[in-house]
Amino acid sequence: MTWLVTGGAGYIGAHVVRALVDRGIDVVVLDDLSSGHDSFLPAGVPFVQGNILDGDLVASALRDHAVTGVVHVAGFKYAGVSVQRPLHTYAQNVTGTLVLLQAMAEVGVSRIVFSSSAAVYGTPDTELVTEATAKNPQSPYGESKLIGEWILADQGVASGLAHTSLRYFNVVGSGYEDVYDTSPHNLFPLLFDALLDGRSPKIFGDDYPTPDGTCVRDYVHVSDLATSHVAAAQRLDAGEPVEPVYNLGSGEGVSVGEIMTAVRDSTGIDFTPEVAPRRPGDPARIVASGELAARDLDWVMRHSLADMVDSAWRARSDATRR
Ligand code: UFG
Repeated sequence: MTWLVTGGAGYIGAHVVRALVDRGIDVVVLDDLSSGHDSFLPAGVPFVQGNILDGDLVASALRDHAVTGVVHVAGFKYAGVSVQRPLHTYAQNVTGTLVLLQAMAEVGVSRIVFSSSAAVYGTPDTELVTEATAKNPQSPYGESKLIGEWILADQGVASGLAHTSLRYFNVVGSGYEDVYDTSPHNLFPLLFDALLDGRSPKIFGDDYPTPDGTCVRDYVHVSDLATSHVAAAQRLDAGEPVEPVYNLGSGEGVSVGEIMTAVRDSTGIDFTPEVAPRRPGDPARIVASGELAARDLDWVMRHSLADMVDSAWRARSDATRR
């Protein structure tokens, strides 16, 4: 059994690759390095550099490496930017998924684990999101992920594709000192960049209807997330039933203000964040139940918030020193 990880050189993809390798599963990576880094790939893992929009390349990667299943992480993940660049987002996330599925059908690969997102819910009107909560994406990014889920489901009906979509909540932390979040748009990397440059980190809005006025999110450790990808791949390999979608949420809400406190505690740096205007498109609160994933996908919060902050800071500040 060999699994292809698209986007396997990115922050999340590289954790998935290493988790699969650690379980003795053969892996090949396809990544165009637009936001990934070849240094994140473990030695000995075959790497195909290219974009999922290149159907011939995808088909030959599947064929050449005798791939039996795909973890499809590659995608453009910035909700805010997707509003400015909808066509780019749809090309990467929707057309990219179509091209991948076409290549899989052509080569006869019939298992896929898809990286979806909490962004499919938009601003939920419930304390605790479940898989049954209404989908109401507020950005081309969220829409593109929902369309991806639909395409998988339709292809499942048409061709027997075995599939599941994992809706990520706020993925943070580092499982390895040499792999860290390099996103230019998310809270942890922006906060750490500010601290390392001696600037004040920003809080985007402190007048939300939440206990401390800052947005509440569901933060999960990237290694726990990677473990559930392995479990999903193993279930598909074993022909065991899976749900079409799972929320990878912890059920716990943490505010941006609380993250600032956790970072102060972890780094020992005494800083005062600057309150900036709200960032358009941010829901006040989104927190999900991970009950279904806990039942089927070994979804366990093995890491505390302090583990998430400590490991993320360690990897990020080590990278600066390297
Ligand atoms: N934030 C700040 N200051 C910053 C950066 C972010 O206050 O410098 C705030 C945001 O306004 C938001 C919170 O921190 O309230 C988290 O923001 P992120 O950009 O880290 O994460 P998002 O919740 O916007 O989005 C992330 C992923 C999406 C995914 C979503 C699911 O980037 O792909 O989680 O909740 F869909």
